[in-house]
Amino acid sequence: MRNRAPQIQGALCFTWHTQQVGQLAFMAKPVSIEVWNPNGRYRVVSTKSMPGTRWINLLIEQDCRVEICTQKKTILSVEDIIALIGDKCDGVIGQLTEDWGETLFSALRRAGGTAFSNMAVGYNNVDVNAANKYGVAVGNTPGVLTETTAELAASLSVAAARRIVEADEFMRAGLYDGWLPHLFVGNLLKGQTVGVIGAGRIGSAYARMMVEGFKMNLIYYDLYQATRLEKFVTAYAEFLKANGEKPVFWKRAATTDEVLREADVISLHPILDKTTYHLINKERLATMKKEAILVNCSRGPVVDEVALVEHLKENPMFRVGLDVFEDEPYMKPGLADMKNAIVVPHIASASKWTREGMATLAALNVLGKIKGYPVWSDTNRVEPFLNENVPPPAACPSIVNSKVLGLPVSKL
Ligand code: GLV
Repeated sequence: MRNRAPQIQGALCFTWHTQQVGQLAFMAKPVSIEVWNPNGRYRVVSTKSMPGTRWINLLIEQDCRVEICTQKKTILSVEDIIALIGDKCDGVIGQLTEDWGETLFSALRRAGGTAFSNMAVGYNNVDVNAANKYGVAVGNTPGVLTETTAELAASLSVAAARRIVEADEFMRAGLYDGWLPHLFVGNLLKGQTVGVIGAGRIGSAYARMMVEGFKMNLIYYDLYQATRLEKFVTAYAEFLKANGEKPVFWKRAATTDEVLREADVISLHPILDKTTYHLINKERLATMKKEAILVNCSRGPVVDEVALVEHLKENPMFRVGLDVFEDEPYMKPGLADMKNAIVVPHIASASKWTREGMATLAALNVLGKIKGYPVWSDTNRVEPFLNENVPPPAACPSIVNSKVLGLPVSKL
């Protein structure tokens, strides 16, 4: 029953609302939407179509009318979203490309809504203080994208080390006319050191992949000790020794600079805030090994991209794998021309399972707040919400401002 196709087909229509923003009243532009379960009691808006249908079904089953924006525009403006919110809206599922601040949270509150969820684990696009001011819960989607994101960081690391994109372009350009000893010689990862800055869920998963998959040593920096990761590397070293192989080792660095100086491949996994803005700048790039590889699947502004382009120009053996950019969707001038850069369009969480799971968690955050459910006690343990064969727990999977809003915590 749970995975059935929705019985009420989505109908395409337009929403068009008069909005009061500050002292100004204006007629917002119409925004095209698809409506599911038009007679549902609670109105939930999704600013984008999201993968899978489970999230829609879960909302419909709980008496929600679901409106999905179908406007052919990748990044919606605040004005577009105000039109979507309209006069009555119980909750919104939004995207990391949107600017969720004072204007949108006040509009949502005026429309009677108290629930918002980003379809993302990161929420640097959300002004949580503004949400607090209007009593709006802010959900995110941790846990479900850990491995998928770590896999992309690992893919970029290997692709950069073995120059896979350059080699692919070479083949397609018809330039391959026979095997040569010097053709696309890259770096052997085995025995090198992988550096991780931010050893939380994703950073630790990436570290394990690189240590176990390529027998790399590990150096990491994090404010908190990554005890489980350390234990894993120690146990793996024992296993290698028992098999007559050279063991791997780990080290917790005292500073970010120590990681940058010592590692051969460095992957960035911090959150973006004032302390990590331009964490990788001109000075720090200069301390890295000339042949190092830098991977960023966190947030673009963690790296000073202008300084990075200069560094790539001056150090042709230095390579980067970037999933995120400082001014997304744009790249800083010169980056696209660099052969020693691999660039992909913010796809780290883009596996089918993860994206469907993110949609489900985001929908359940909004639904849970609307229904007055408590907040799930452990955001690292979201599997019960993702099992399609049983109903999800009656809880919000992850609300980042639950403490400030005084929301109850689930006993489950
Ligand atoms: C993706 O970047 C996310 O934060 O989920």
